[in-house]
Amino acid sequence: MAEKRKIIIDTDPGQDDAAAILLAFGSPEELEVLGITTVAGNVPLALTSRNARMICELCGRQDIKVFAGADRPVKRPLITAEHVHGKTGLDGPVLPAPTMALQEQHGVDFIIETLRREPAGTVTLCTLGPLTNIALALEKAPDIAPRVRELVMMGGGFFEGGNITPAAEFNIYVDPEAAQAVLKSGIPVVMMPLDVTHQLLTLKKRVEAIRAIGTRPAIAMVEMLEFFERFDVEKYGSDGGPLHDPSTVAYLLKPELFKGRDCNVEVELESELTVGMTVVDWWQVTDRKHNAKVMRHVDSDGFFALLAERFARV
Ligand code: BDR
Ligand code: CA
Repeated sequence: MAEKRKIIIDTDPGQDDAAAILLAFGSPEELEVLGITTVAGNVPLALTSRNARMICELCGRQDIKVFAGADRPVKRPLITAEHVHGKTGLDGPVLPAPTMALQEQHGVDFIIETLRREPAGTVTLCTLGPLTNIALALEKAPDIAPRVRELVMMGGGFFEGGNITPAAEFNIYVDPEAAQAVLKSGIPVVMMPLDVTHQLLTLKKRVEAIRAIGTRPAIAMVEMLEFFERFDVEKYGSDGGPLHDPSTVAYLLKPELFKGRDCNVEVELESELTVGMTVVDWWQVTDRKHNAKVMRHVDSDGFFALLAERFARV
């Protein structure tokens, strides 16, 4: 058996964030979740921090430590996405209010302390929201960058364009300066852009396979997915909406499901029209240094089979 990977999940739940967290919890042989840090994104920080704890409790994982991080982007006012995720950020199922407490330590300090404590090259960061916490950690403690094993992010889009503006994907658009800082940090980055996640549609038969698991977490997940997809079904006219965030955890479990290449990626920070766009040098037309492994293709049936298999273990 391959060694167990230690991960920190940085997140703004979000129904698809919840799916990523469930996938990690359903894979204890491969992944050790050292902690969950929350960030403002889909909804404000108080709600993402509440939702993260509700997800842990839904899965019977009150032992997981949840740390609240940044309540706004590095330089810009916060933009949220209630139009996609609902007022709470986790609309769909009726879940009890969390009973587990938030940790007192700030999420950014938890990230720094963990990376300094664990042996260098052993901790992977799995980011499911705006990259604010990671950028703040890098600014406060630049020594952590070479200690990160890998950072797998859901963010960006290139051939698929954007989902919050024609050019920009939500996570990058909310905090483009943070994304740029991460891409410039020297940390080995794996990027799951919309080019991949738009292939991961919650088709009816895939959702039914999750419902058939029959457990409370699986049924709550289905209720989340049914709420979450309605926006995208209207927008794209497809059978099901794209499931973004679990692509990151799936990559850690089964990288062979994904195909991509090493590229240079830069983030547009100034243009009003295209701010937050990830400019990917896919065709290697510049000599800018590679700074990310950008994924473009995914075996979507393999991905949903993995999801159903692991959700059943939660
Ligand atoms: C990303 O934005 C959020 O709304 C989702 O949770 C996902 O992380 C997709 O663009
Ligand atoms: Ca998210």
